[in-house]
Amino acid sequence: MEKAKWWQDAAVYQIYPRSFYDSNGDGTGDLRGITEKLDYIASLGVDVIWSSPFFVSPWADGGYDVADYRNIDPAFGTMEDFEEMIAGIHKRGMKFMMDFVGNHTSDEHAWFQAALSDKNSPYHDYYIFRKGKDGKEPSNWASIFGGSAWEYVPELDEYYLHLFAKKQPDLNWENPAVVKEVLDILHFWADKGVDGYRLDAINYLYKEPDFPDVEPMPGSIYGFATEHYANKPKVHEHFRTLHDKVMAPRGLTTVAEVAYLNEETARGYADPARGELDALYPFDLLNVDQDGYDKFSPLPLDLPKLKKALSHWQGVMHDHGWLALFIGNHDQPRALSRFGDEEHYPARSAKLLANAMYFLQGTPYIYQGDELGMTNPHYDSLSRFRDVEAINALNEGLARGESEEHWLRLLNDRSRDGGRAPFSWSSEDNAGFTKGTPWMDPCANFKDINAEAEDKDPDSVLNFYRRLLKVRKGLSSVIYGDTEFLEMEDPELMVYKRGSDDEMLISVNNFSGNERSYKLPEDFEDAKLLISNCGDPVIKDGKAELRPWEAFTLIKSK
Ligand code: GLC
Repeated sequence: MEKAKWWQDAAVYQIYPRSFYDSNGDGTGDLRGITEKLDYIASLGVDVIWSSPFFVSPWADGGYDVADYRNIDPAFGTMEDFEEMIAGIHKRGMKFMMDFVGNHTSDEHAWFQAALSDKNSPYHDYYIFRKGKDGKEPSNWASIFGGSAWEYVPELDEYYLHLFAKKQPDLNWENPAVVKEVLDILHFWADKGVDGYRLDAINYLYKEPDFPDVEPMPGSIYGFATEHYANKPKVHEHFRTLHDKVMAPRGLTTVAEVAYLNEETARGYADPARGELDALYPFDLLNVDQDGYDKFSPLPLDLPKLKKALSHWQGVMHDHGWLALFIGNHDQPRALSRFGDEEHYPARSAKLLANAMYFLQGTPYIYQGDELGMTNPHYDSLSRFRDVEAINALNEGLARGESEEHWLRLLNDRSRDGGRAPFSWSSEDNAGFTKGTPWMDPCANFKDINAEAEDKDPDSVLNFYRRLLKVRKGLSSVIYGDTEFLEMEDPELMVYKRGSDDEMLISVNNFSGNERSYKLPEDFEDAKLLISNCGDPVIKDGKAELRPWEAFTLIKSK
């Protein structure tokens, strides 16, 4: 068996910097805040920190609208603060992964400003401008954040394409000058010591240039045109360029945020033999509790559907690439509120989610606060929400005549703000996140669920995560093993086996408030307990008597 690459036995901690820790009392998290908390992060046993963007940005999309790729936004600090942070990360033996937003810039970026001011500027062709059609947009493509994907510029009598918010014009990767700029930026940060890149929305780089109209969504004149811009064959070329010109020569690792993937494309991106990307982060894996791609049409968790999706991706990537494993991120509501039972079994179900996800094959990505069992903030007013996607959806809903109460519930359950509320550090004011006025209100339950209290409690979610990352490390079944899901149709149990040449393990998870009996496969009857979320499992005659939300993992040599 080929020796694992370092990132295949690593765990990653994701920071959303604005909400992590505020060191100077201005109400927003900052880079010094991260530096001050590095010992905490290292204590989890993670190997890598990935931070969401902290570059100069008008913050129209949470920093994913970059106005200057080479400078830190003053709200987050200075270049010296960055250098100090990365030195502190390296000193503790960890690595740093940078978020690179390459599909679009902010409309306030100097390139776009130049493009707007003069059709003949070389920067005009950095973006995707088109003439209107019959007095309307060039096509009826919908923006991912609602409304049209085209914005009219009267001075130019042209429209520009924005797959995301209208303040995020898409870059034209078919212009070699754009690719050259991107390569320079990636080298710039590599020179500053970053160890890898998380590539944002990167499978949208190539758009079919004729922009055909698409089937409108129900009740709209616009339609999702992903078939014309997601995972088009030409993006492979761009990935190879990034790999050959930056990542390989500089020894950087990559993880790509990708959606709408099929098996062939996924392998095409991540098969090591092809030299494109190291690992995939398939964002739509968590679309299992909603109607299609509409996150504001929630459905209860369909566990068989989640198991099918996980099992599918495990099979597709085994020996053909590498996966990021995640239960939450800055684009999702809190995993515990969504998939666990925050009312009756908050800590136990938060631990279950980690046990269920992180013994699969791939690199664990832990989103800040999930290691505490943080929940959605459950705000009592619509004015508390900040995210562009949430606010656009709210406005569209209200315009359709839907009630504010309905949208308060929906945003509390489903919006990206759920995962973006400030990190609960302690029971002090503002959850110990800031001495000032926080840019977003913290979770109401921070007095009970916070890092300081959990650090001291051996039974906390935090200490469960620490144990899990420790016992998982170096296991051949975890790194190399194949994965087989059992009890596929069971709506409450998630059980899977992993097996390598010399070892096998089984992860058993009761996703319900019910007691359940589960007959272990015979080959596990003499296996040893690796980790559990509520004391020793009760196993009699090969049958586990599972308590509500009980989870454990057993292991044995072959
Ligand atoms: C990715 C980011 C998300 C952002 C979008 C546009 O999906 O994770 O936060 O809004 O790209 O950059």
